[in-house]
Amino acid sequence: MSLKEEIAKRRTFGIISHPDAGKTTLTEKLLLFGGAIQTAGAVKSNKIKMHARSDWMEIEKQRGISVATSVMGFNYNGIKINLLDTPGHQDFAEDTYRTLSAVDSVVMVIDCVKGVEIQTEKLMEVCRMRKTPVICFINKLDREGRDPYDLLDEIEAKLDIKVRPLSWPISMGKTFKGVYSLFGKSLHLFQPSKNKIENKGLNIEDINDPRIDEQIGANDAAQIREDVELIEGVYPEFDVNEYLAGNIAPVFFGSAVNNFGVRELLDSFIKLAPPPKARETEERIIEPNETKFSGFVFKIHANMDPNHRNRIAFIRICSGKFERGKTYHHVRADKKIRFSNVTAFMAQEKELVDEAWPGDIVGLYDTGNLKIGDTLTEGEKVTYKGIPSFSPEIFKEVVNKDAMKTKQLDKGLNQLMEEGVAQLFTYELGSRKVVGTVGALQFEVIQHRLKHEYGATCDFMSMNLYKACWISSKDKKKLNEFVDSKFRHIAKDKDGKLVFMAESRSWLTMVQDNFPDIEFHFTSEF
Ligand code: G4P
Repeated sequence: MSLKEEIAKRRTFGIISHPDAGKTTLTEKLLLFGGAIQTAGAVKSNKIKMHARSDWMEIEKQRGISVATSVMGFNYNGIKINLLDTPGHQDFAEDTYRTLSAVDSVVMVIDCVKGVEIQTEKLMEVCRMRKTPVICFINKLDREGRDPYDLLDEIEAKLDIKVRPLSWPISMGKTFKGVYSLFGKSLHLFQPSKNKIENKGLNIEDINDPRIDEQIGANDAAQIREDVELIEGVYPEFDVNEYLAGNIAPVFFGSAVNNFGVRELLDSFIKLAPPPKARETEERIIEPNETKFSGFVFKIHANMDPNHRNRIAFIRICSGKFERGKTYHHVRADKKIRFSNVTAFMAQEKELVDEAWPGDIVGLYDTGNLKIGDTLTEGEKVTYKGIPSFSPEIFKEVVNKDAMKTKQLDKGLNQLMEEGVAQLFTYELGSRKVVGTVGALQFEVIQHRLKHEYGATCDFMSMNLYKACWISSKDKKKLNEFVDSKFRHIAKDKDGKLVFMAESRSWLTMVQDNFPDIEFHFTSEF
């Protein structure tokens, strides 16, 4: 197959949701369709439940498992689907943000009882930033949920994206009958089944077809006709280009646990979702069909074996063909690098691969050369954009507990930060080191790993900080003046970029007003 054909048949995506909306269940059903697993329950083990909040050892235990489910590849109707797993636990939101940099589209799961929840809002913000196309799956229709029209209004209001229903539910909860697909022009009757592969549905082009009455009764038939008429009247015709541009989210309804609506979602997904697209580097835009390989590291998984510091770097292939054993250029280090141990992810098995194509993810065994955001090429010096750091929410100062192990502590901290466990800021004044995270759990993880993998012990001292703001200015002199006047509050991030450590929102606003020539950014890429 040619490079062009390989690209055309690939769909690389992620599922996002608030915990408990049904992401794991939907993943599992999709894998059942793809023949990647045979029984339900196989993916469940990857799930970190909310009660694990305080039990982070549980999370460590999951690390090994989650490598296997990090990327799930399967074939469906001639399409190679790569589903990238995103951690459900909110403390690992950074991981999810980075994974979203490696996908071409997203399926967003919303619980019809709970509606739009906070984690969905945050994740949608990241999708909007990158204009990632989003398909929405409203789940749990077997339960008494909210009115579907209200749900759609809420999605538009809270997630700031237009929606277009492509299917519509017939009743809900105990009286749930199924959905009518406006996209596929078919009627799908609800039959709860946890493990069965769902039927294709009844092809019904005309909503006035009397077969609808026969199937669901006159009352529900009248209701669905009214709903379809209303939808076709209120919402503009679905424009796939608007979806691809990230402006409109098509909406489907179903019940993942009952394997209902999943086939319709998948069939529509392979028709609508984009194959790998051109991607931006600092230097130029790279098309996927350029013959030379390029890709970037979006995730590093370490600590598989505490005795050996081996890690797997996950590479998203963006252009050309990747070949095992070939020497590639590691742009940041300006070094040649060769990987003979390359893993691809099909089903839940890891397997050795010889080649991979744009849209694919490969896992490279690495001994510490690669870090998140690194670009690999066949020689060209380009750096992929799109993996910004976001300002952390919690900040703590690192206090070294064993002066004899300073070197180990520094090394450990650096390596953990390269894996993306947290962010490190070093103050200009006194070289104080501050770790910033999204969740509280990471501090325990860091302490544990520093001790067990690097033999270093540290404490964390709470700090009263509101945000880390990356700063820039068109006027170099003004920037220097600002840094001089606020030197107590200036730190550098892991790449040496200048960061202003703001203590409170009101103070930040004041500083922003006083220094109009300085730009304050809440992400490291601007
Ligand atoms: P998550 O990955 O988004 O966190 O959610 P997950 O799939 O684990 O689903 C959360 C809960 O919602 C699970 O129940 C799951 O069975 C249930 N669920 C998923 N889809 C549907 C659906 O369509 N209808 C209904 N009624 N429930 C659904 P649990 O009790 O937490 O787990 P389990 O004991 O069922 O495994």
